[in-house]
Amino acid sequence: MQRVLSGVQPSGSLHLGNLVGAIENFVKLQEQYQAFYMIVDWHALTSRFDDVASIQPAVMEVAATFLAAGLDPQRSSLFVQSQVKEHAELHLLFSMITPLSWVERVPTYKEKLQNSEADLGSYGFLGYPILQAADILIYKAHKVPVGEDQLFHLELTREIARRFHFLYSSEIFPEPQAVLTHAARVPGLDGRKMSKTYDNGIYLRDTPDVILQKCTRQMSSDPARVRRTDPGNPDICNTYEFHKLFSDKSTCEMVNVECRRAGIGCFDCKKKVAEAIVARVEPLRVKIEANLAQPKELENVLREGSARARAVAQQTMDEVRSAMKLPSL
Ligand code: TRP
Ligand code: SF4
Repeated sequence: MQRVLSGVQPSGSLHLGNLVGAIENFVKLQEQYQAFYMIVDWHALTSRFDDVASIQPAVMEVAATFLAAGLDPQRSSLFVQSQVKEHAELHLLFSMITPLSWVERVPTYKEKLQNSEADLGSYGFLGYPILQAADILIYKAHKVPVGEDQLFHLELTREIARRFHFLYSSEIFPEPQAVLTHAARVPGLDGRKMSKTYDNGIYLRDTPDVILQKCTRQMSSDPARVRRTDPGNPDICNTYEFHKLFSDKSTCEMVNVECRRAGIGCFDCKKKVAEAIVARVEPLRVKIEANLAQPKELENVLREGSARARAVAQQTMDEVRSAMKLPSL
């Protein structure tokens, strides 16, 4: 059975974009693949080394969300990166064979270095994609579900695998391929990409009240529609994008027709979209809260998942050590 692997940053609450763009895809993939889903707390340290107390609670939130969304810990290994320390060993060995120019040219590197508020001038941050390559290759993953912003990291991962094979005349690692979600990207309330940084998100732990308020007060719509009596244009309306993602077909058709002839007002339209979003989020929110109320159980799931991941990682490391003529353990 082929393997799928992905990593999620423990960066506080997850939002609708994380759900539709990533986690729902993970749930589907666990049916067809041997799955490894990891919470990357070491990666979080590259930017939050001065705020370490926030990381573990965020790890628990991701774990609670994984389970609530339907990831099955029997089927998939759900685990924490720092609990499988073999990743660090492979990261070190890869750092020996990766030319500095390869990591310096990662497009996100220079951009983040300049634009982030955190101090990213560390050696560890430069090595971020090398650690990610180790995460993926240590499980010999074939498929890696990620967003478009990760495609360059995946390319670098394949280059590191090829260089390893060339240097040590071994073929240990299959070349991992990205799996992009087919679901359209979820916009933010303001129409930009939904992101914590923009503060434009609907979070999976938002209560129905909060979702209703966010939709009616913050969600953008056709800017040319000023008065209730003006006809609107759903084709350029951000609220309509949410209808397409979350409302049923008949609601979408109704809005599409009524908006154009001013038959429905934006406030009512946004209320409707809020209902559809609540219908999707509320059952999940209840499960997430219930899971968070049982931290011992979450820890057990992660501990067992880490043990299973570690068994695979250790096997790969035996092969890697042998290929690199290092003594076996
Ligand atoms: N860099 C990824 C992100 O920011 C997280 C990540 C770390 C990851 N290791 C990974 C994703 C391995 C896929 C595979 O989203
Ligand atoms: Fe957008 Fe709905 Fe207003 Fe039309 S009625 S402009 S679809 S919010």
